[in-house]
Amino acid sequence: MEISYQLKAADQRRSEQFRPTDDIGFGHLRTEHMFLMDYKDGEWIEPRIVPYGPLTMPPGAMALHYGQSIFEGAKAFKHTDGEIHTFRLNMNAARLNHSAAVVCMPAIDEQMQVEAIHALLDVDRLWFPEQDGACLYIRPFVFATEDHISVRSSKNYTFCILMSPSGAYYKDGNNKAIRLLVSKQYHRAVSGGTGSAKASGNYSASLKAAETAQTYGASQVLYLDSKNEYIEEAGAMNHYHVLKDGTVIIPKFTDTILKSITSRSILELGQQLGCEVRQESIKISDFVEGVKSGDIIEAGGFGTAAVVSPVGSYIFEDNSVITVGDGNVGKYTLAMYTLLTDIQMGRQQGPAGWVNKVERIKQ
Ligand SMILES: Cc1ncc(COP(=O)(O)O)c(C=O)c1O
Repeated sequence: MEISYQLKAADQRRSEQFRPTDDIGFGHLRTEHMFLMDYKDGEWIEPRIVPYGPLTMPPGAMALHYGQSIFEGAKAFKHTDGEIHTFRLNMNAARLNHSAAVVCMPAIDEQMQVEAIHALLDVDRLWFPEQDGACLYIRPFVFATEDHISVRSSKNYTFCILMSPSGAYYKDGNNKAIRLLVSKQYHRAVSGGTGSAKASGNYSASLKAAETAQTYGASQVLYLDSKNEYIEEAGAMNHYHVLKDGTVIIPKFTDTILKSITSRSILELGQQLGCEVRQESIKISDFVEGVKSGDIIEAGGFGTAAVVSPVGSYIFEDNSVITVGDGNVGKYTLAMYTLLTDIQMGRQQGPAGWVNKVERIKQ
């Protein structure tokens, strides 16, 4: 892929490494450039890196009306050698294409997606925020641009990648366990729907549930399947729990659960963690019983943003509460978080191919 570069003038660009002293939050800031590529007449054309700025789009662009839009989320990390590294981007690329297939969009060559992200990281490397726990958050997304008012798949699309210098997801680190609302009222996905895709509409559909969770003093919703029998996801994270013997259990991937790259990494790291990690269909009734009896000692969520997010308690719509263990962050949760972040940060060797250096081509 031949990427064309239309970079900002040197005097308008950052000339020193970004070293924020204040909390920069998550997702607010942008780097100076973005990657764009268009789909027209049956092919992806004009891969380019341009200054970050507004996109022009006809008001009839189909993404705005029918939500034909998908996205990914990944992070880049800076190692102690000063070089930027990415983590398992090939899995994000494959998942973007899975999402594309679910909402009838054309695929994008996976190698090309990874190359595009690395090229963008290369030009905006000075935007890497040098702050404890900070990262460059990477957001690739594809949306329908054809100016047409019919419910059918668009003929034209744009693939864009933007980046956000972001601080630690949780201000006080992951040493504070969150509360989830177990909802029988709201559902994230139904079988036969789009739940296994990172389709934008799934996220607008989850806003009401998330706002309701907050009225219960919970950070997010523990979603059940539409029959309220099985555990599905913890907000925008996969759910996990840990048994007394240290076994980690993640719900089986179905077409209503997003295949988390964090979960899949933990599944693959079982041996290195020294405990069994497996997937099962988990009945909410069994889970509640396990927490109450003390057979389940830890629980939480897996996702790129927070990596491992411990859950200390669950509240139900009748306001009853169950507490997992002593309600604090447990040792298995901490071990999973430490191992995965150590691999991402280059402090420990991960499996071959997981961590890749961003080569210096333009910078
Ligand atoms: C619904 C949902 N589940 C799970 C995840 C976690 O996936 P990953 O670990 O790949 O970030 C995400 C975030 O991408 C998500 O949006």
